[in-house]
Amino acid sequence: MLGNFSYKNATKLYFGDDSLKYLNEELPKYGKNVQLIYGGGSIKKNGLYDEIIQILKDNGKNVIEDAGVMPNPTVEKLREGVKIAKENHVDLLLAVGGGSCCDYAKAVSVSVNCDEDPWDKYYIRFEEPTCEIVPVGCILTMAGTGSEMNGGAVITNHEQKLKIGHVFGEEVMPKFSILNPKYTFSLPKRQMVAGIYDIFNHICEQYFSGDDDNTSDYIAEALMKSVIHSSLIAIENPEDYEARSNIMWTATWALNTLISRGKTTDWMVHMIGQSVGAYTDATHGMTLSAVSLPYYRFIMPYGLNKFKRFATEVWGICAEGKTDEQIAEEGLQAMENWMKQIGVALKISELGATEDMIDGITEGTLILEGGYKVLSKDEVKQIIKASM
Ligand code: NZQ
Ligand code: ZN
Repeated sequence: MLGNFSYKNATKLYFGDDSLKYLNEELPKYGKNVQLIYGGGSIKKNGLYDEIIQILKDNGKNVIEDAGVMPNPTVEKLREGVKIAKENHVDLLLAVGGGSCCDYAKAVSVSVNCDEDPWDKYYIRFEEPTCEIVPVGCILTMAGTGSEMNGGAVITNHEQKLKIGHVFGEEVMPKFSILNPKYTFSLPKRQMVAGIYDIFNHICEQYFSGDDDNTSDYIAEALMKSVIHSSLIAIENPEDYEARSNIMWTATWALNTLISRGKTTDWMVHMIGQSVGAYTDATHGMTLSAVSLPYYRFIMPYGLNKFKRFATEVWGICAEGKTDEQIAEEGLQAMENWMKQIGVALKISELGATEDMIDGITEGTLILEGGYKVLSKDEVKQIIKASM
């Protein structure tokens, strides 16, 4: 039975190759002080920075720069961002970049007016914000995380070797997000495919669980087919606007909470991947691809019907004359072939993980209970070993 749920998505999207002009419609809604959040400089190289500064000036804004948000933003950077926002009485946090900048902006937004340390409050105790939240806007330059239309904010604490995500409510979601697929053209290929696998896995995490007949799973299958199709075009021609726009749009729908409505979800690939990330600081999508096959092969017997459906509906595997196990395995084989074709990591050792990290990665993996099989720590370890 489709479970009971409520659904609202608070983010206004502007999508398309002219979408930046809508920043002019959004900016007048907020006060003068804008904290401009960006990463290591890709937006300066591709010219986006200059365009945005011009629009901010035209709208009479006082720009406070907050550069250097690293991939997998750290708790130290978060504390710095909070300090900048406090000192400058910031009215809007404008993130320009990928999921890291957007996540970071949300983490800053719930911490500016809060006296407690954000790591302890949101990432250890998982509390909800109790202070005034500074609004966030996002200009997305990389498709993958879905951060542009959700409340997720993942922060890494290298000292504690933990990478943890807090999913905040609608009041923390970006008030608006600007999505221009052309901005993603300048992404290095490795980042592009990491983003593509991240999208695909977000859908898997919500698909492989809760197997009553429900519309959410049909939507999930359509999204998977779209991203597989577009990925093959984009790796041949990264400037194919149609493929890049479909990838960007799929990323948003893959994790704006729609396809998890009314059903349980898994998220164990992300839990293991995040722990790998805490040890290696590797690219998020690659940590997921590197642990996925061992994980899915491990849980397949517990969710055999769904893996069979995945094989026939998503990968077009012919079921005739085959056992359920054969069909399911052929589906995973097709997925593996596709992963090789687009060129994502298939081993965590490729990402810098070493044997001596296995115990720590296992320890740092949060175990969630929504999947086909609630893993024991030993089973997590087995999967991590198989991913080496
Ligand atoms: O920093 P710059 O110079 O901008 O370079 C970035 C960065 O090095 C580069 N890049 C982005 N757009 C570009 C570009 N380079 C050239 N041209 C462009 N147009 O790409 C690199 C990676 O960027 P990043 O933002 O780190 O990637 P992504 O979007 O994959 O975000 C990853 C973070 O999001 C978290 C991850 O854990 C990770 O910390 N996630 C957030 C989620 C959410 N909010 O729901 C869910 C996800 O599962 C994920 O966990
Ligand atoms: Zn992800």
